[in-house]
Amino acid sequence: MEQLMKDFFLFLSKNKALTKAAKKYGLRFGASRFVAGELTEDAVRVIKELNKKGLLVTIDYLGEFVETEQEANEKTEHSIATLEAIGREKLQSQLSLKMTSMGLDISDEVILRNMRRILDTAKKYDIFVTIDMEDYSRYQKTLDIFKMLKAEYDNVGTVLQAYLYRVADDVEDLNSLSPNLRLVKGAYKESPEVAFPEKKDVDENYKKIIKMHLLNGNYTAIASHDEAIIEYTKQIAKEHNIPNSQFEFQMLYGIKNDLHLKLAKEGYTFRVYVPYGNDWYGYFMRRLAERPANVAFVLKGMFK
Ligand code: FDA
Repeated sequence: MEQLMKDFFLFLSKNKALTKAAKKYGLRFGASRFVAGELTEDAVRVIKELNKKGLLVTIDYLGEFVETEQEANEKTEHSIATLEAIGREKLQSQLSLKMTSMGLDISDEVILRNMRRILDTAKKYDIFVTIDMEDYSRYQKTLDIFKMLKAEYDNVGTVLQAYLYRVADDVEDLNSLSPNLRLVKGAYKESPEVAFPEKKDVDENYKKIIKMHLLNGNYTAIASHDEAIIEYTKQIAKEHNIPNSQFEFQMLYGIKNDLHLKLAKEGYTFRVYVPYGNDWYGYFMRRLAERPANVAFVLKGMFK
């Protein structure tokens, strides 16, 4: 039943008509638990509150799967405006983005031009940018573009997903670039030909790549709400004398907030992923798919 619900929400996350309708009608159905708001002002207010509590942020101007160059350019402008707001307001925030919203599916020329504009602005304000990893059909392309950009910029990183069979090879392959990587379990519906279907295998592979990347001496963001994974990371760091300055924990806005503060108080670097903007629908559906119990929030939101 849980798997069926998961598949259903991941199916809904790709529905273009619903994505369009969601943009028009604004944050609904309890989505504001996971999304900071629709406007830059909303995001700035939320980041200031988090920073005051000692939490760092990575902000994401939501968007994915644009189809025209004009839309990709508009999304790029929004991300640039977000960077300008971080700089102007002196926020302790990085930027996260999905390259499908900057033109990844359109052409190499469009995506590279837009990414260079974003990274140039980020560099001006000394802001680090993480390229989120999307579904497997964009995986190799994302890695190829990341490698090209990493050769030109030192303020860019990307994400690797532990559910992929090939991921340990990619950790090894990228090692020569000493990249700052965010490691996650993976949020998309993938075929058993490319990804572990069983959670226990994903968890084991996740531990394996966390250890590999840390022992390779690279900066590692462990982006997970799984307390067993957090304990595992602490233990590996202790056993191998890895300083706290070589890794950080990250969680999504609205999930396990108490744990954010607890880890920060224990002296770990902690970063909250804060999404905002009107293109919230796909992101929200993936959060429901991760935990169908969240549907209770949707039902509450419907009657508000
Ligand atoms: P797991 O799914 O095992 O959850 C552990 C526990 O956390 C659950 O038992 C529950 O208590 C809680 N929990 C998890 N998800 C929840 C939810 N939605 N609502 C309420 N509670 C929840 N993925 C991807 O494919 N590409 C990417 O670029 C990113 N980027 C990214 C950034 C950051 C900062 C985070 C934290 C996550 C991502 N992800 C991602 C998502 C990631 O792949 C994964 O889907 C989620 O983090 C859920 O997996 P966990 O590691 O939390 O473990």
